[in-house]
Amino acid sequence: MAKRIVKDFNGESATVTWDSQLCIHVAECGRAKGELFERGRKPWCDPDSSSDDHVLNVVKRCPTGSLSVVFKDPAKNESSAAENTITVVYGGPLVLQGELDIEGAPADSPGLKFRASLCRCGLSKNKPYCDNSHEGSDFKDYGAVGDAGEALENTGGPLTVSMVENGPLRLSGNVRIVAGSGRSAWQGTKTALCRCGLSKNKPFCDGSHRGSDWTSA
Ligand code: FES
Repeated sequence: MAKRIVKDFNGESATVTWDSQLCIHVAECGRAKGELFERGRKPWCDPDSSSDDHVLNVVKRCPTGSLSVVFKDPAKNESSAAENTITVVYGGPLVLQGELDIEGAPADSPGLKFRASLCRCGLSKNKPYCDNSHEGSDFKDYGAVGDAGEALENTGGPLTVSMVENGPLRLSGNVRIVAGSGRSAWQGTKTALCRCGLSKNKPFCDGSHRGSDWTSA
């Protein structure tokens, strides 16, 4: 696995931070209109090129938590989305947004408090985070969700994500799961999501990890 680089881009009113190990090059930042990120420019990110609102808006598009921003005026800092959502990406990771508390999340990656992309193919070398290992692998899942869960009045508040050794992701807190089609599919407060890639009831764990030789190490 490539060496982790955490890089700060300092501006007059904002410091944008990029964590190389979380970045899976979705390019929401690079394709955003404006001059905040420009490929080939040094520095690649220039917080002084854009308004604070634009900087925050673009950083929040990063689905992995690789990008984060701290403003000199703390009132401008990112806050959690009003609801916790997990999108089951077609052939790819689980994309989480909300008030996240991910077990073992590095303290110097504050973006993970708001956004994260977690491996569900079982192949990442940076578990629990996606590293794009699903690309070119045999992992195939279109993000359909069969179960509906329970209707919730509120899908916000803290969402804890812990990892069972050689087993699933365990979620605790209000959360809504969005199918790969974009359909709002499941709501609930507790569930276990497959991260070995073997479940026949994805995105949920069905126990298939037991008896397989998959390990979460
Ligand atoms: S973690 Fe995949 S079936 Fe349990």
